[in-house]
Amino acid sequence: MGNKTRILVTGAGGFIGHHLVKRLKADGHWVRGVDIKQPEYEQSAADDFQVLDLRMWENCLTATRDIDQVYNLAADMGGIGYITAFLADISKNNILINAHMLEASKQNDVKRYLFSSSACVYAQYKQKVADLAPLKEEDAYPADPEPGYGWEKLFAEELCRYYYHDYKFETRIVRFHNVYGPLGTYDGGKEKSPAAISRKVAHAEDGGTIEIWGDGLQTRSYMYVDDCVEGLIRLMGSNHREPLNLGTDEMVSINHLVDMICGIAGKSLSKAHDLTKPQGVRGRNSDNTLLRKVLGWEPSTPLEQGLAITYKWIEGELKKKEVGELAEVTGD
Ligand SMILES: NC(=O)c1ccc[n+]([C@@H]2O[C@H](COP(=O)([O-])OP(=O)(O)OC[C@H]3O[C@@H](n4cnc5c(N)ncnc54)[C@H](O)[C@@H]3O)[C@@H](O)[C@H]2O)c1
Repeated sequence: MGNKTRILVTGAGGFIGHHLVKRLKADGHWVRGVDIKQPEYEQSAADDFQVLDLRMWENCLTATRDIDQVYNLAADMGGIGYITAFLADISKNNILINAHMLEASKQNDVKRYLFSSSACVYAQYKQKVADLAPLKEEDAYPADPEPGYGWEKLFAEELCRYYYHDYKFETRIVRFHNVYGPLGTYDGGKEKSPAAISRKVAHAEDGGTIEIWGDGLQTRSYMYVDDCVEGLIRLMGSNHREPLNLGTDEMVSINHLVDMICGIAGKSLSKAHDLTKPQGVRGRNSDNTLLRKVLGWEPSTPLEQGLAITYKWIEGELKKKEVGELAEVTGD
């Protein structure tokens, strides 16, 4: 054990958590990963990986024992289809995880605790146009977050503040704007737009058509996962206790995102817009003024570059699956 910082990453079987564990290990720390499941695509780099359901109080106590810092990334979450479909389950599961993790961390004398919030806390009435101004941290109030997932995140942010107010328990709060990259979910219903579009483009024949949710004019900004991990580590090391945006301010429409991915794939595809599918808020972008001030840094991976890496990874995974299925059919 020695004098190494002992770090817990929850959600270590998930996308961002898995990348964060790798980076913390590369930086020389002792790392415990906890999740309700093992990572899907490769083994965790954690010194100690425990499969635990963090909705349960006792499991949160076990997870936080002998730990200096907690990155609490565990959450029941998914893309826009998933978070608009399951309001009660998502809220209940995440309330239990976040309330128990915070209290267990305090009881076990954790020195610092980082909570991963989301741009879904921002007031919906401020996101009604596609070319809206970037969202500043104060735009979360007066509150009107996304039902279910967003309301829970906003209250869990408040809970972190209360733990500092009442107990001087050190908390950090990050608000992620869409994160993408390799080793993220790309099918099954929990995937987000860059992964879902990459999968559709990879499956399509050149000259074919793919389905796009909404009219494609809705806008978002996207952050590459390596930038996300760098920002998390910087925020944990900072003295900033208030919520902080972590994202890029390179806003694109979904149609433009599709064109970029088609360009990377070298395919020319038509878009069939399905207006019956959920599309979330009309526009969303990150104001990075405070981020630059607090961290002296901001995410810089160009979208085209990050998407090229992500697309190649998803295409490779789909090819592996096809080969596997073919082998099953032919009995190889
Ligand atoms: N990826 C994004 O664009 C994005 C945007 C905003 C906020 N966030 C937040 O960042 C965090 C990490 O997101 P991600 O993209 O890596 O998602 P993810 O779904 O890949 O990871 C979350 C992990 O939490 C685990 N989990 C769920 N319920 C659990 C339970 N009861 N006990 C233990 N583990 C449990 C899941 O199994 C999963 O591996 C989440 O808190 C999420 O809400 C992510």
